[in-house]
Amino acid sequence: MTLLTYLRRKLGLTGTKLGCAEGGCGACTVMLSRYQTHTQQLLHYAVNACLAPLCSLHLVAVTTVEGIGSVARELHPVQERIAMAHGSQCGFCTPGIVMSMYALLRNNPKPKMADVEEAFHGNLCRCTGYRPILEGYKTFTVVRNTRYLTPVNEATSLFNPADFTPFDPTQEVIFPPELMRSGLLCFRGDRASWLQPDSLDEFLRLKWEHPDARVVVGNTEVGIEVKFKNMVYPVILAPAFIPELNNVSHTADGVVFGAACTLSHMGAVLKKAVETLPPHQTEVFLAVLEQLRWFAGLQIRNVAAVGGNIMTASPISDLNPVFMAAGCRLTLMDKGTHTHTHTHTHTHTQFILTDVCVFLFLRLQFQLVSAFKQSPRREDDISIVTAAMSVTFTPGTDVVEDLRLSYGGMAATTVLAKKTANGHWGEELLQEACSLLAKEMTLDPSAPGGMVTYRRTLTLSLFYKFYLTVLQKLRLQVSEHSEAENIPPYLSCHLQAVPEGRSQDDSVGRPMMHLSALKQATGEAVYCDDVPLYENELYLALITSSKAHANILSVDASAAEKMPGVVTCLFADDIPGCNATGPIEHDETVLAHRQVTCVGHIIGAVVADTQLHAQRAAKAVRVQYEELQPIITIQEAIAAKSFYQPIRTIQKGDLEAGFKQADHILEGEIHIGGQEHFYLETNVTLAVPREEGEMELFVSTQSASKTQSLVAKALGVPANRVVVRVKRMGGVSGGRRAGPPFCRLLSNRPVVAVQAEETVRCMLDRDEDMMITGGRHPFYGKQVMVMVMMMKLCSPVKVMERALFHMENSYSVANVRGRGFLCRTNLPSNTAFRGFGGPQGMMVTESWMTDVAQSLGRPAEQVRRLNLYVEGESTPYNQVLDQITLDRCWDECLTRSGYQERRAAVDVYNSQNRWTKRGLAITAFQKMSIFSVCVCVQAGALVHIYTDGSGLHTKMVQVASRVLGIPCSKIHISETSTNTVPNTSPTAASASSDLNGGAVQNACETLNQRLQPYKTKNPKGSWEDWVSEAATPNLGYDFETNSGRAFNYFSYGVACSEVEIDCLTGAHKNLSTTIVMDVGNSLNPAIDIGQVRAPSLRGLGLFTLEELHYSPQGVLLTRGPGSYKIPAFGDIPAQLTVSLLRDAPNQKAVFASKAVGEPPLFLAASVFYAIKDAISASRAESGISGPFRLDSPASAERIRNACSDRFTKLCPPAEPGSFTPWSVQV
Ligand SMILES: Cc1cc2nc3c(=O)[nH]c(=O)nc-3n(C[C@H](O)[C@H](O)[C@H](O)COP(=O)(O)OP(=O)(O)OC[C@H]3O[C@@H](n4cnc5c(N)ncnc54)[C@H](O)[C@@H]3O)c2cc1C
Ligand code: FES
Ligand code: FES
Repeated sequence: MTLLTYLRRKLGLTGTKLGCAEGGCGACTVMLSRYQTHTQQLLHYAVNACLAPLCSLHLVAVTTVEGIGSVARELHPVQERIAMAHGSQCGFCTPGIVMSMYALLRNNPKPKMADVEEAFHGNLCRCTGYRPILEGYKTFTVVRNTRYLTPVNEATSLFNPADFTPFDPTQEVIFPPELMRSGLLCFRGDRASWLQPDSLDEFLRLKWEHPDARVVVGNTEVGIEVKFKNMVYPVILAPAFIPELNNVSHTADGVVFGAACTLSHMGAVLKKAVETLPPHQTEVFLAVLEQLRWFAGLQIRNVAAVGGNIMTASPISDLNPVFMAAGCRLTLMDKGTHTHTHTHTHTHTQFILTDVCVFLFLRLQFQLVSAFKQSPRREDDISIVTAAMSVTFTPGTDVVEDLRLSYGGMAATTVLAKKTANGHWGEELLQEACSLLAKEMTLDPSAPGGMVTYRRTLTLSLFYKFYLTVLQKLRLQVSEHSEAENIPPYLSCHLQAVPEGRSQDDSVGRPMMHLSALKQATGEAVYCDDVPLYENELYLALITSSKAHANILSVDASAAEKMPGVVTCLFADDIPGCNATGPIEHDETVLAHRQVTCVGHIIGAVVADTQLHAQRAAKAVRVQYEELQPIITIQEAIAAKSFYQPIRTIQKGDLEAGFKQADHILEGEIHIGGQEHFYLETNVTLAVPREEGEMELFVSTQSASKTQSLVAKALGVPANRVVVRVKRMGGVSGGRRAGPPFCRLLSNRPVVAVQAEETVRCMLDRDEDMMITGGRHPFYGKQVMVMVMMMKLCSPVKVMERALFHMENSYSVANVRGRGFLCRTNLPSNTAFRGFGGPQGMMVTESWMTDVAQSLGRPAEQVRRLNLYVEGESTPYNQVLDQITLDRCWDECLTRSGYQERRAAVDVYNSQNRWTKRGLAITAFQKMSIFSVCVCVQAGALVHIYTDGSGLHTKMVQVASRVLGIPCSKIHISETSTNTVPNTSPTAASASSDLNGGAVQNACETLNQRLQPYKTKNPKGSWEDWVSEAATPNLGYDFETNSGRAFNYFSYGVACSEVEIDCLTGAHKNLSTTIVMDVGNSLNPAIDIGQVRAPSLRGLGLFTLEELHYSPQGVLLTRGPGSYKIPAFGDIPAQLTVSLLRDAPNQKAVFASKAVGEPPLFLAASVFYAIKDAISASRAESGISGPFRLDSPASAERIRNACSDRFTKLCPPAEPGSFTPWSVQV
């Protein structure tokens, strides 16, 4: 059992959250304190409770978020400051971030900003954009980092640090003295024994007694194997407390680390050595430190052992390449004898690793060592390719004696290049080494992990970086080269402008703190899975399809049914109501019936007494399939003409005339990848049966009513028997609009309830959540542009239906036709996601806009500015634009960003640097305020009716029945609840019927009045028709006639971004982003600023980082934070300036405000096009000019592959179609 399960399920301490169960999100962060008897030191360290085995915590004190403060008692300053600095939105990540900060302060009460940033390497947040968290916590730092300060005279602070409670480190809880000891330990459970020896001899004895025992120290490898690969280890040996294995000794050769030393400890020791020893002795130390800097998050490094990294012998181990290239010495022990070895390319399960010696260079003064790691994201990510290189020169010369190049990510384990060049360190050696590497470091085109061309190119690029580094160290002339690694650190700065002139008493327009922020920061805020366990509660686990498209031949649940704790198994035939379901069209199934249409299609469910039992049994269900040909990618769907109807077209102007007048005709295309919502809280539902067939559901859904109706439909009961409650959600962005599909199952009480009245719970594991639920739709856009000089554009654009409204983004296009096709594939149905197709549509537009500018050789910002909409112009869907603020946003953004000076500086930089390039782009958006889909445009407040007493319910039903004119069977009264109906009179003095009856009559008459127009319009309709029509008003736009008003109003914004790319690795840095956003009169600047920053970071993920990989068979390969990377703290632009446009009241919404949230997501497109600009500069060095295709996201792989140069030429891609790739672009 993990510490997290114990805290949440056994102790009911639900402040610590479950986000991923794989150490990748930090939501479960707690602080451990441990007394080391051999050093007599007390250690405090942050860890991931989801990976910490409970057994490993003997004699360890655990501090959770509840332990440091609460709203009821007193908040800890760490909790207070994140809340008051607006660093909490949905709040699901907040306790984890609080605990990372708390652990830092326990060790270092006066940290530097860099320490704070490092403390958060292992924490993710999807809602805040990170900046407010850093701003709040910078108040703890000693040297206030001026880079985080707000420019004077321009901004209004969103919080006042003077309001914060001072931090007094002397007031912290002390370590319990009774834990200051060590001892032998043995735990025995049903399936495993945990043996914790306290001496090396005992450890060795136990290992030889149990040769198959698994050694576990940090559990960061083994924990993943157990959770996700279903491994079972009956005997576990835990040597973490053995003094010899934690020992560090400084010898004449170097530093010797016991194998159980944690990576954090190793880093601290080596850092100290680097500070005290002469530089020529610490080359290897620095290489190890470089790898540790980007090795996982702090929570992992605090427990993961150096021995665990070596002995796993993972292909992407970051330390093994250094140890291998530098020839570090390992001490391995078998039965009583000692073995010394320098290589470690295989796991030595028969050995115990006792220590590793990291060498100093006392004699080898001419040896130079470097390490490199390239991963999709800089922070807390697994390497794509990792390398270490060592060169030894003949003393006093530049003649190479020994060159050792070691790579991870190029084979099943770390590999050392067999053949390397020698001679003088110069161009000739470089060429020879590169051609040898290109021949040796090959990969099968189908190799797991994909990115084959990129990985091969990286082996050369990284060597070239080493070559440059060594050249510099040898103080030789460096001509065309720049130091690609030294990208400047954060230069953060925040600016925001809020409307002035508000009265102090008027809260509208003031930066008020999120109402739940304090509770979120203390862990007291209750999320769905935090609802305490009910007595006899059951758990439901899903049985899902492993095939993308197949007929189900048979399902055998007999083995599962016999497993411990199993209550029942459910399949399609058990659905009492209708099996058809879906958020808008009911074209999906609650449970697959006869056929599956995607991997992850829910076939059935197992209900058992515990989560573990349910999940184990679900895995034991056997399904036989007859496979059918699947369609996985958009290109396959186009080839097979696999489309949903209708195919939509919007057209404006005269295309033929436009083509005739054209000076140039240009074609282009772009693929925009999908995106996973990745809210920190996965989908969860708790179904509680109530009396008279009622079902109360606690669901993490954005749409309580939709969930209610879909559940009722599946159950075959009236909707009024289902009550859906949503307390709060751990992140929303559209994906929870219909409730999780399985909630329809959970409430399947007639089947689930073998005994009466059980509650059933289900919270999806992160991998299930990602596999089953859809995300943002991937898009493919193909355009033909017809250009009349460079002034106005005429452009037929093909994009998807929902993107059509955004197909011109903010540009006036005289002649345009857009056609949208919806592809039918065998992937899980995608769903709403911030922007709802808009960002993809606008992205296509910006793509052709960039191509136009490039092919004309004109600056992109000029072409964009010239074509911006102006007041009174009409969109392709014939809506006349008024109150347009595009030009104001644009000009203000140009000024605030210092665009022209930046442009000049970028050009100078690019002319002076060959291997790093900077890029700059400014983009605008015009975003519709409200959905065009009619079901999405309403808000409601439901008023219930007074209750209870002798026959009162019945009378009230009768009153309602008469006034509404419907039978009593359609009316249901639930319960009295003061949160739905306040100020109720007691049911006494025989006045209840009068009072309540009057209220019911009034309410029903009002409802009748509202329904009247629908009854008049459709006199023959049924009650259900009128109610449904009333619930889904139509704004009046008609696709057929291209007429009617599609949107209420528009939001505008402009962003300018500058980036720097490393042309050799494809890595990029977001140097600066300036945003000017029209939010009308801001209702709450703190929330509005947050609503600009956070979605723009989500957009940054969409356009530059987040990549879903699917196998050609339709299996999602990226199913957790380990493989799917959302932006982390370090991805926020170094300089981020957000300004709210002043004096731009919106007459069409409440208090002259505008909707925020969705619109700013697209602002991140400026980063994408800045990257494209930088790539153009790199291509120009190789003599390539003109438009080129860059698909989204602009990942490191795409950037590197687009920067064509002599290294890429040595690694040509395999012929498409000649192999089966590991993943396909869906
Ligand atoms: C979120 C996350 C991020 C990660 N990021 C990185 C990363 O950036 N780079 C990277 O290289 N790795 C990374 N890892 C992998 C992992 O953290 C490291 O490999 C770590 O060093 C393993 O140490 P451990 O103590 O946790 O190993 P455990 O899980 O405790 O053990 C791992 C293996 O080593 C064996 N073993 C341990 N000690 C000994 C010994 N003394 N003698 C013999 N066998 C032994 C165990 O039997 C087991 O097979 C990451 C893991 C996670 C979960
Ligand atoms: S739940 Fe532990 S790190 Fe995500
Ligand atoms: S506030 Fe961080 S995930 Fe929602």
